[in-house]
Amino acid sequence: MANVDRARLAAVNILQQVLPADGNGRSLRDAIARQRATLTPSERGLMMDLCYGVCRHYSLLSGWLEGQMDKPIRSSAWAVQLVLLCGLHELWFSRRPHHAVVNSWPDVCRSIKAQWAAGLTNAVLRKATAVNEVNVRNGLSPAQAYSMPPWLWQALERAWPEQAATIAESLCDTAPLTVRLRPDAAVQLDEALRSAGLTVTPCPFAEFGRNIFPAHNVTELPGFNQGQLSVQDEAAQLPAALFDQPNTQRILDACAAPGGKTGQLAELFPDAELSALDVDGKRLKHVEDTCQRLGIRATLLTGDASEPSQWWDGVQYDAVLMDVPCSATGIIRRQPDLKWHRRESDIAVLCGLQSRMLDAIWPLIKSGGTMVYATCSILPEENAQQISAFLARQPDAQEDTPVLVRSVETDVGCQLLPQPGGHDGFFFARLRKL
Ligand SMILES: C[S@@+](CC[C@H](N)C(=O)[O-])C[C@H]1O[C@@H](n2cnc3c(N)ncnc32)[C@H](O)[C@@H]1O
Repeated sequence: MANVDRARLAAVNILQQVLPADGNGRSLRDAIARQRATLTPSERGLMMDLCYGVCRHYSLLSGWLEGQMDKPIRSSAWAVQLVLLCGLHELWFSRRPHHAVVNSWPDVCRSIKAQWAAGLTNAVLRKATAVNEVNVRNGLSPAQAYSMPPWLWQALERAWPEQAATIAESLCDTAPLTVRLRPDAAVQLDEALRSAGLTVTPCPFAEFGRNIFPAHNVTELPGFNQGQLSVQDEAAQLPAALFDQPNTQRILDACAAPGGKTGQLAELFPDAELSALDVDGKRLKHVEDTCQRLGIRATLLTGDASEPSQWWDGVQYDAVLMDVPCSATGIIRRQPDLKWHRRESDIAVLCGLQSRMLDAIWPLIKSGGTMVYATCSILPEENAQQISAFLARQPDAQEDTPVLVRSVETDVGCQLLPQPGGHDGFFFARLRKL
């Protein structure tokens, strides 16, 4: 079997798990991780392109397809629906020749024992060669055109009426590969990355952030195995840099896994007594791996940040980073399946957990100490509204967020919206204890 067909078949198989007919799919990362090893590197490239692309443009592709069919495809033949969506994605969003794409997907139908759909697939894809994603978009509602679930599109319109379309469009983009360089190795790594033939662009707001082009297997980048370089979006590099405590203090990373910011805190404050807490013991193992790769030390604690009695040793912290669980709506470019897995009802549940965590951790901070609250969300209820409500409940908390960059005005904190070719959507606020 030709390589491309193995990649296409794998993509359909993965998408059946991620975007099943009943809507209850597993995460794209997990589904890909299970299948990756069976493919060669070049097959993986096409498989990833199709899987990420179909999740990114799901409603645009299915919106057009719906208009072409006399009746929808039965849910028992869902694999054929996914074959068609993959074919449309490949036609409209890849540079592969149209005739090759149109000829390949009927073969995939035969391989999945859906011979009956081979002619249909050929006819639909031939028709699709006459249009492109731009004119298809014009005939659809904004939510479909930007491939957003309607509730999320409405939430964006409510929150950011002027920016909603730009945000939704940029969430359909791919994100750059951004890394954080270890401060003491930055100069030498810049040189090593350039010598490896990569284009290295300094991030405008994160001192040690670099965008790397073309995207590359990170484990093969110079400095990765030596713990001098970590993958981290530019916006995600900003919260830990907001602490200005002297080195020797006691720091808690309260929602630490997989350890991106734990590593950064250890690089910034090498003499601090650093603890990393997470409720999920399995995910905490990733923090351990991160610490090992970076050659840093942190005390790992398994426990619920909203229940300190389970894990706290009774000694207050000087600084706490609260990178709380959130809707992750700011990082949809990197995890496009989130759009189809997140439910509107999740938001109130997450907001409740965030405010319980804030209230439970605040008493653990010394007078004069600092908390940095962060989310990768672009929904105000998890961000500025959450912090305003916290400030109203806690008279000894004062907001003091330095604003280097901000995409939109907010009452408190700093809200970043996803930028084409740049950082993800993110929010952070620095709080001082009086
Ligand atoms: C946004 S992620 C943290 C990312 C991490 N700070 C980094 O930079 O790599 C949120 C984390 O909060 C953890 N979490 C969720 N509920 C929690 C709770 N009640 N207490 C502590 N951690 C929790 C999740 O397991 C998840 O690992």
